[in-house]
Amino acid sequence: MSKFYITTPIYYVNDLPHLGHAYTTVATDVLSRYHRQKGDKTFFLTGTDEHGEKIAEIARKENKDPLNFCNLMATLFKKTWKELDISYDYFIRTTSQEHQKAVSEFLLKLKENKAIYKKKYNGLYCTGCEKFLTQKELAGGLCPDHKKKPGLVEEENYFFDLQKYLKKIEKLIDSDKIKIIPESKKEEALGLFKQKLEDFSISRQKVEWGINIPWDNSQKIYVWVDALINYISGIGYPEKKFKKWWPADLHIIGKDILKFHAIFWPAMLLAADLRPPKEIFVHGWFTMNGQKMSKTLGNVIRPDELIKKFGADATRYLLLTQFPFGQDGDISWDKLAKRYNADLANGLGNLVQRTIGMINKNLDGQNPALAIKLKKDRKIKKLIEELKFDEALKEIWKIIAFSNLYIANNKPWELAAKNQEKLKEILANLRDNLLSIAWFLTPFMPETAKKINKIFAGSKIKIIQPLFPRV
Ligand code: MSP
Repeated sequence: MSKFYITTPIYYVNDLPHLGHAYTTVATDVLSRYHRQKGDKTFFLTGTDEHGEKIAEIARKENKDPLNFCNLMATLFKKTWKELDISYDYFIRTTSQEHQKAVSEFLLKLKENKAIYKKKYNGLYCTGCEKFLTQKELAGGLCPDHKKKPGLVEEENYFFDLQKYLKKIEKLIDSDKIKIIPESKKEEALGLFKQKLEDFSISRQKVEWGINIPWDNSQKIYVWVDALINYISGIGYPEKKFKKWWPADLHIIGKDILKFHAIFWPAMLLAADLRPPKEIFVHGWFTMNGQKMSKTLGNVIRPDELIKKFGADATRYLLLTQFPFGQDGDISWDKLAKRYNADLANGLGNLVQRTIGMINKNLDGQNPALAIKLKKDRKIKKLIEELKFDEALKEIWKIIAFSNLYIANNKPWELAAKNQEKLKEILANLRDNLLSIAWFLTPFMPETAKKINKIFAGSKIKIIQPLFPRV
């Protein structure tokens, strides 16, 4: 048995949870559940990123004290994760005492190890990104992501001596000691070393909503430095117990935050005498009808809208089957509904209902004895471990399609009068398949798996409402 420590990014609370957040979180949940099912000691961390100018600004706009505002938003994130059946082990908030203490300790360690120095600096800061942008990164003077003009910041700040660690990190990535997948993102990360990577400022003078630099109350810790430390504060750092889980086996992140995770974070860890994470998986972005999802365009889908329409398990399924995890892809209500009807209402839902019906009618509701041993398919296992969720689900759906075809070909209803033995055999095979399907679906669609098990695992069949009513 091995340990498996997996994380999502912590989400900014300036906005309600959106589909991008749900996407990362569902994928992380699937892997956590898969590892638990396998018997690994698993820890799944998620949470919220609550400091910085961006959050302070929106709290002000809403006329709320920042902490009250964060409390409210953190509750909404937790609520959404509950509705999506997310099985996190801990929810870390950067405004919590434990986290703030961990951040202070970490910074003191960096100082002790001489990884921090002070200098005068001026730069263009985008609050949307919560980072400094270079002239080259701007598009027509604006931040290309937020379409806003970055503000000029001139301060004396503390800096992290990134240069000291660059060679080492580059080697770690190149040799897969920090494994970055997919390969294209590893290349992208390695490409960053070819440009000049500047030391970064780890503090801000004019920001009020943040954690103090422990030795200088006039400065707040840069929100990204604060946020990255969640990956160790959430498992107990600075107490020794965090070593039970650290280093992280896998950070799952979106493509926009690669540099922070692949370079800055490992460098900070090395500077504090800690080990870097083992693996970073970088996923792509959703667009909606070909356009970037944004509040201004009004095309944002919220996870709760999907859950309301399709249910939690179907939402999980739909999120992971639109396109391969790791690539970008487009979604639309139309595509989602079509897939729901085809794969869930017709495919799986139908198979379950037909099998229940036949066992009920022909075997008096007694589940037939199992004919073959449950399939433990290596291929599906491997695909999940490679985070190829869409392909793993395709393999599971092959069993479903095969079983539906098996019914169509054998027409069990015609056998009732002439060949009871054969009929029993067919129903026993179907029961086998459904129990295998339930096993494989456990990480992906936990409730559905439970229901299928309940129906077919006992000696007497359970009758249920259709699992996936058509939409
Ligand atoms: N707070 C930082 C992360 C700190 S981790 C130490 C942050 N938060 S975020 O809320 O803006 O974004 C969180 C995650 O959501 C990122 O991984 C991002 O890539 C992902 N997504 C945001 N929009 C997305 C889509 N439209 N599609 C898919 N994922 C997207 O960054």
